[in-house]
Amino acid sequence: MILDIKRILILILLSAGSGFSFAQVLEAPADILTAEFHKQRREAFRQKLPENSVAVFFANPVRNRANDVDYLYHQDPNFYYLTGYREPNAVLLIFKESQQKKDGSFYNEIIFVQPRNKMAEMWTGKRLGDEGVKEVLGFTEAFENTKFDKYQLDFSAFNKVIFNDFYNDVRDEEKDNGDLYNLIEQFKGKVNYPGANKSLEIEPKRANLDTKSLEKIMDDLRGIKTPEEIELLKKAIQISVIGQVEVMKAMKPGMSETEIQGIHEFVFKKFGSEYEGYPSIVGAGNNGCILHYIDNQKPEIQNDELILMDLGAEYHGYTADITRTIPVNGKFSPEQKAIYDLVYKAQQAAIEASKAGATWKSTSDLARRIINQGLYELGIIPAIDAHHMYYPHGLGHHIGLDVHDSGNKDVFEPGMVFTVEPGIYIPEGSRCDKKWWKIAVRIEDDVMIGEDGNPILLSGYAPRTSEEIEKMMEQPSVLDQFVLPDLKESMSK
Ligand code: GLY
Ligand code: MN
Ligand code: MN
Repeated sequence: MILDIKRILILILLSAGSGFSFAQVLEAPADILTAEFHKQRREAFRQKLPENSVAVFFANPVRNRANDVDYLYHQDPNFYYLTGYREPNAVLLIFKESQQKKDGSFYNEIIFVQPRNKMAEMWTGKRLGDEGVKEVLGFTEAFENTKFDKYQLDFSAFNKVIFNDFYNDVRDEEKDNGDLYNLIEQFKGKVNYPGANKSLEIEPKRANLDTKSLEKIMDDLRGIKTPEEIELLKKAIQISVIGQVEVMKAMKPGMSETEIQGIHEFVFKKFGSEYEGYPSIVGAGNNGCILHYIDNQKPEIQNDELILMDLGAEYHGYTADITRTIPVNGKFSPEQKAIYDLVYKAQQAAIEASKAGATWKSTSDLARRIINQGLYELGIIPAIDAHHMYYPHGLGHHIGLDVHDSGNKDVFEPGMVFTVEPGIYIPEGSRCDKKWWKIAVRIEDDVMIGEDGNPILLSGYAPRTSEEIEKMMEQPSVLDQFVLPDLKESMSK
């Protein structure tokens, strides 16, 4: 990766004399979203707020895996989109109108973040703290989260206090007045959230609490990608399709589902992807019929099986979502090919029909019609309109900071990035000829609506037709040279 020297120099200059350690920032990739991007997104958000309102966002909770081990922390995508802040225990307020401080100055957004802490930073890494949030993320009003409790704001003076309702699933882990649990409790008290002020005899009215509007505003914003977001999405997608291609070349009967997952994810990491955008799905044979199969533990995939691989790299927050289904032995059987080609036909038609002005419903209906017609012609369903469960999911969804991203699903517009992913799944025991059993095919590609209104296929680097896949699978693999010691033998030495 070529480092963006200019950006690093700017950061060094910015940090000079501040006393704040920018080590963490200097090590950050040069192509992460800039403070300016997040600031503009806050501005765009503010434009969409109703008169005399405030919106309140909370960072994602830390989730415990077991004992003293937590899951890898992942910021709430709305919070990340609007701030760039990637740490827990924070709250952000965005105001429609500027608020006046006691000293007469004005502010229209304020953030409370976890404080710097030598001990915690020694164990789990650098924190930005309030000063870092100002200098790195460009906030002017930033405070330590312990100050939120005493923050004076009359929430009852707003027409609307807009936030997403709580799931009540945040643990009060720390004896820390600024942890997320306490931030939420303090907020509930400040806004008279029902049940919050237990000492009050009468349930306070919550006339100005609005837990509905935020989703719609974020759908409008996040559903249309900016050029910076499209760049990151393209990288996430390209990394993911390179993974698919390498697996096509390396695939051999006898490999395990886990090993195949590992090859994909190695490629993701090789190119700097921090996470998988969702748990990887690698299902051979009947396992492919489980739509979100994430066990991936079949020890030996069989020669005559198909393997369905739905994996997406997450790159600097943005995730791809791509599925390829390939024959383990490199050659589709006639039945596998018939199903595969039918899914491809439906998918290709739906991609071509995804144009600005067309409705999501129209492309979904088109794909379903093609699949029903094909299943009928193959004798798998008794009539074109017969009820069946061989295609039990929708055609696609937006992608972005979430794999199932925010966004309106009425009409296609330039700047939308989404999946097109029809599938046919015929589990063992289905009411059709046995020869179709255990065939599961999903083809999932990532598509963008260009400025001219036409669809642009972003994931076409990985072969999509049955013929192209068979050809790719004939190619030698770099992994042919990657020979590890035998596990048992190595243990006996
Ligand atoms: N990978 C989840 C989905 O395709 O929606
Ligand atoms: Mn998908
Ligand atoms: Mn998928």
